[in-house]
Amino acid sequence: MDNLLGALRASGEPTRLRILALLAQGELSVKELTRILGQSQPRVSRHLKLMCDAGLVMRLPEGTSVFYRLVDEGVSGGLACAITKLLTRSDATLQLDNSRLAEARQERNRLAAEYFSKNAAGWDRIRSLHVSEKAVETAIRQILGTSPVAHALDLGTGTGRTLLLLQGIAEKATGIDFNREMLAIARANLEAAGLNDFRVRLADVQNLPFADCSADLVTVHQLLHYLDNPAAAIREAARVLQPNGRLLIVDFAPHEIEQLRDVHAHRRLGFSEKEVTAWLQAAGLSLIEALHLPPSPDQELTVSIWLALNPGRAHTGRRKVGPAENSGGEQLT
Ligand SMILES: C[S@@+](CC[C@H](N)C(=O)[O-])C[C@H]1O[C@@H](n2cnc3c(N)ncnc32)[C@H](O)[C@@H]1O
Repeated sequence: MDNLLGALRASGEPTRLRILALLAQGELSVKELTRILGQSQPRVSRHLKLMCDAGLVMRLPEGTSVFYRLVDEGVSGGLACAITKLLTRSDATLQLDNSRLAEARQERNRLAAEYFSKNAAGWDRIRSLHVSEKAVETAIRQILGTSPVAHALDLGTGTGRTLLLLQGIAEKATGIDFNREMLAIARANLEAAGLNDFRVRLADVQNLPFADCSADLVTVHQLLHYLDNPAAAIREAARVLQPNGRLLIVDFAPHEIEQLRDVHAHRRLGFSEKEVTAWLQAAGLSLIEALHLPPSPDQELTVSIWLALNPGRAHTGRRKVGPAENSGGEQLT
């Protein structure tokens, strides 16, 4: 009762209702909310703090920005959801807010596209060295099968391509990346695909803001070769995997294209099956399937796919995280 009363009090104000209506359509930063609402930042931040304290919205720091989204569980989350359903779309203020929201999204997408096109040449070069992404994606879908996944984590999500592949399989998914520009692109892609239960978070894959056993699938697509310590990332992935949860790794087989190190910041020139298997075993996982997609005659890189299983024990080295994180990493520390 106390929670509900607190949430009712915190939501019973015109600007706060407008904020709830906006956040029902996706995450927004304070800066975006300030622009849409046409109010000063301190004022908007005050409203947001009140609603956070009442459990209606959650705060997601992302570098120097902070994003907000609706809480989707508990009494306050239920109230937030009910309120947003009751708010009528024909209200003139809400309509104006929505047209400003569309402008804010356009601006976000424009910045993301700018960053993407600046880096696209480098990515295209690497892509041209191995089998088509379509072939890799088909193989990933095959190896994953169609068993439903409750919560998937995609480490080093980049533009969110792997997250998009998980639609129809995963009920909820979170992409992790430490590059804000990449996350902006991923966010735009998820919004365009209408994947409301798929999110992205700014974090280092070597220190995931998730409790032990909080995901039943972890995907790591073309990330390991950038890391100083791939074994540590695999250990961290194993930590967050539930018993019987699966880890899917996609990366290059060993190669000798030094240019990828010099020009594209690859730390490692591919991985052998022996090396990956040893890391998986050390993390308490068992390799269940490996697939290698060889290059065509004019290409040089073999793409390898490894699928491992957490054979049923919770992992040692447990890490405590806050309650919001326990439910799927909503709050970053
Ligand atoms: C080559 S991209 C792959 C993106 C995506 N997985 C795909 O295959 O399309 C590698 C991504 O990993 C991210 N990344 C690299 N090291 C990371 C780390 N330690 N923590 C989080 N993200 C990282 C980069 O920012 C980049 O977006």
